[in-house]
Amino acid sequence: MRIPDSIIDDVRTASDIVDVIGAVVRLKKRGKNFLGLCPFHQEKTPSFTVSAEKQMFHCFGCGVGGNVFTFVMEHEKLTFVEAVRALAEKAGIRIPEQGGDDRGENTEQERVLAILRLAGLRYHDHLMTGTEGKLALEYFRHRGLTDATIGAFGLGYALNSWDDLLSFARREGFDPPILEKAGLVVRREDGSGHYDRFRGRAMFPIFSPAGRVIAFGARKVREDDPLAKYINSPETPVYNKSRVLYGLSQAKDAIRDKEMGLLVEGYMDLITLHQAGFQNVVASSGTALTVEQIQLLGRYTKSVTLVYDADSAGSKATLRGGDLVLEQDIDVRVTELPAGEDPDSFIRKNGGTAFQTLLDGAVSFLDFRARQMKAEGLFTTPEGKARAMRALVETVARMRDELKRTFFIKRLAQEYDIYESVLFRELDNVLGKRQPGSARPERPAVPAGHAGVSPSAPAVRPPATGGGIPPIERDLLKLMLEHGSVMVRHVFEHMDMAMITSPTARAVIDVIVQHEEGGAFWDAGTIVDHLQDPVLKRIVTELTIARHEISPGWQAMGSDPPAPDPRAMADDCILRLHVQAIDERIAETYRLMKDAQLRGEDSTAFQQGIMDLQRQKKELQRR
Ligand code: UTP
Ligand code: MN
Repeated sequence: MRIPDSIIDDVRTASDIVDVIGAVVRLKKRGKNFLGLCPFHQEKTPSFTVSAEKQMFHCFGCGVGGNVFTFVMEHEKLTFVEAVRALAEKAGIRIPEQGGDDRGENTEQERVLAILRLAGLRYHDHLMTGTEGKLALEYFRHRGLTDATIGAFGLGYALNSWDDLLSFARREGFDPPILEKAGLVVRREDGSGHYDRFRGRAMFPIFSPAGRVIAFGARKVREDDPLAKYINSPETPVYNKSRVLYGLSQAKDAIRDKEMGLLVEGYMDLITLHQAGFQNVVASSGTALTVEQIQLLGRYTKSVTLVYDADSAGSKATLRGGDLVLEQDIDVRVTELPAGEDPDSFIRKNGGTAFQTLLDGAVSFLDFRARQMKAEGLFTTPEGKARAMRALVETVARMRDELKRTFFIKRLAQEYDIYESVLFRELDNVLGKRQPGSARPERPAVPAGHAGVSPSAPAVRPPATGGGIPPIERDLLKLMLEHGSVMVRHVFEHMDMAMITSPTARAVIDVIVQHEEGGAFWDAGTIVDHLQDPVLKRIVTELTIARHEISPGWQAMGSDPPAPDPRAMADDCILRLHVQAIDERIAETYRLMKDAQLRGEDSTAFQQGIMDLQRQKKELQRR
């Protein structure tokens, strides 16, 4: 059955291609793109490229490419509709079944997200421009935040009022029940109406990985506020706090880039670290770290460093957190902050370089545990030592990788002068106890419900050529794909479709022009959905993504070459196509003239024609 275009678009918007592909392919940031080993063919050096900006992928090795739907189709061997459904399910978007009408629910979720976004903007406005918000702005500045940071995290201030948001939302067309669903207002116990949940507080919007506001954390800033230091949004249809990592949308690129994530406890810890240049940081704000949060983080990296407070609550959290992370097959290291400090206070006191030193000195979770037990005096008696060793072996047993387990056991044996065989036997004991009862679920592949499908070659592999499009036409096509409607209109105001000689290029342009005439929004991503021919698909993805291929020199400097003006580039292409067309007409006229001469006929008209054409060509080139 047909899924409405608006829903397909919702799913597309909600499914970040880097997240979806990143869940099954290890991606590293390279310039503007992400690079990994192609899941569709065997390769040792990565040529599989994903563009976050364009939401497309392309393999320069085997030529497969497309948008987020294409990827799921090829990777999971699904039809288009099945791929849309799989991604919709993951994004929590309801697709109405034929006959039934549950669009209401879908709209409700969208309304909840819409009011959360507006609320975030309003809080931010209060912070930046309001008189009452000044207090909170000063508070943030006092804590060392720059305006850029405040902007990057969308920080805000909720007025100390019972109904500021309520009445604002009403003016925007949102009724109290929707605000209640969004967790922004609370229903009075006597049922006589609603009041704003967040009042007189500094606001921290919590974003989905794709960057949509889904909840808030709210910090006390007023002396007379009787409630807890932080209040958080309740669970809502769009916010399941055990599945959310604060700061992930701002951190995900850096985490992939550095192949490591920092995990902290607090909102402010995260923001201060981010501002100090440690952007690969997420927080478990408002909850103890959960397995789901770790699995989420595991999509981006296999290496996590815990940076928890040095107080005893902090080290308990570290212990729990470390064990959980190890079980997800992620390497865990631990930093030790000086007593009484949290990452935020440490950075503000000692600066980023000192923090880097701290990170460099991070120890493996196992060493951290050993050190802790030593500090507790456990190693001073034989009984204590036995207990400690057993605890350490239990930690090793949590690692999924047998090689890693072996390595750590050997190290323990060396360090504590115990026979390896004794430790291995202990390990077997622990593993034997654990394995039968608690099945260890494999890391779920995305999308949900299609786990375990192993990557394989796509059914049709397009040939390894660029479709034989002449360079000028290629450039022009690329410009149209990059710059959309404006460029297409500009191009066809200045030239005729007939001047495109390559049938392949024409086929793609035909689809573009259909979209343009249909008046709906389009970009390279939507065009791909309307191309059946894998060769055409491949050309579109290749052209779209190749733009970001950067030469090694630029790559070393960490930046892209300066981009020339696209319109000027298009004009240049058009000019050259006009010149080319004239050249062809000259050649044709010349042939006709020769024929006429051979037949002994008068050829002056042809000569005149050629001269005219040459004049036209000169004129064009002068422009
Ligand atoms: P902390 O009490 O360590 O506070 O709580 P903090 O992060 O250092 O906060 P600042 O620096 O005083 O602003 C750590 C995290 O635990 C959650 C919050 O997410 C907080 O960032 N928390 C704390 C709550 O949810 N409620 C609370 O009342 C306190
Ligand atoms: Mn703090």
